[in-house]
Amino acid sequence: MTEQTSSYALNDKVVLVTGASRGIGAAVAKRFGAAGAKVAVVYRSGADAANAVVKDIAATGTEAFAVAGDVAKAEDAKAIVAKTVERFGRIDVLVNCAGVAEYRPFEKTDLDLFRAHFDTNVFGTIAMIQAALPHMPAPGGRIINFSSALATRPIPTSSIYSASKGAITTLSHALAKEFGPRGITVNTVAPGVIETEMTAKILKERGEGIKAMTPLGRIGQPDDVAGVAVFLASPDAGWLTGRAFIVDGGVS
Ligand SMILES: NC(=O)c1ccc[n+]([C@@H]2O[C@H](COP(=O)([O-])OP(=O)(O)OC[C@H]3O[C@@H](n4cnc5c(N)ncnc54)[C@H](OP(=O)(O)O)[C@@H]3O)[C@@H](O)[C@H]2O)c1
Repeated sequence: MTEQTSSYALNDKVVLVTGASRGIGAAVAKRFGAAGAKVAVVYRSGADAANAVVKDIAATGTEAFAVAGDVAKAEDAKAIVAKTVERFGRIDVLVNCAGVAEYRPFEKTDLDLFRAHFDTNVFGTIAMIQAALPHMPAPGGRIINFSSALATRPIPTSSIYSASKGAITTLSHALAKEFGPRGITVNTVAPGVIETEMTAKILKERGEGIKAMTPLGRIGQPDDVAGVAVFLASPDAGWLTGRAFIVDGGVS
């Protein structure tokens, strides 16, 4: 278990984090737990991993529970939200971290690849927001969506993934305008390369090169991103909405 600390006190907050069974989402969920929030740890297939995250959060003295579902299915998104509301009464903060990524030359892309990316990365985010919105405080709700530095700095073979993450940045900007009058903020976190299962292959092939082009001189870790999400849910971030924050150790 990684020891988590947080500069923020979010004791009265209920936070739902998708993609929380591993990688960045797991670090985000644990960091919210360290800030005292109650956390719904949402996963698709990694029940054991999600339960381990719940155990880590519970060990810090706050409440968490694991909830399974495929965010790409609207009925699952509704069920995830319903179970969270049944358990904790409301959702103050929604973090859409669930995502998939596959890099492929454009000529080899097909409808299946397109659907896999846009169903989870884009529709999954939309479905979760639609389901959670009626249960979020207005004013006061916070929505944090995960894009990628590759949305604005694509590389060869990232076309479909980058397009799906570009859609998230634009969606978040538009929703910030739409939900602003209700006092709900919508922001985007756009990480650079972070060491997770998603990037294992890339880091094996190009890790040294990525490190060399990173001004801070190392490969980003899930914890490097987690605090940014918690900041965006904190009182200090109340005047931030519609913004995308590139978290890449200075690469861009
Ligand atoms: N790692 C990076 O370098 C990087 C860079 C930029 C942006 N991002 C973005 O940051 C987010 C997290 O990335 P990561 O590296 O932590 O990924 P990861 O290690 O591959 O974890 C992905 C998570 O998303 C969940 N998930 C995937 N599809 C799902 C679906 N349809 N419904 C519900 N859950 C689903 C997985 O659940 P199960 O394992 O339980 O199935 C897992 O918890 C993603 O949105 C990714 O695009 C990552």
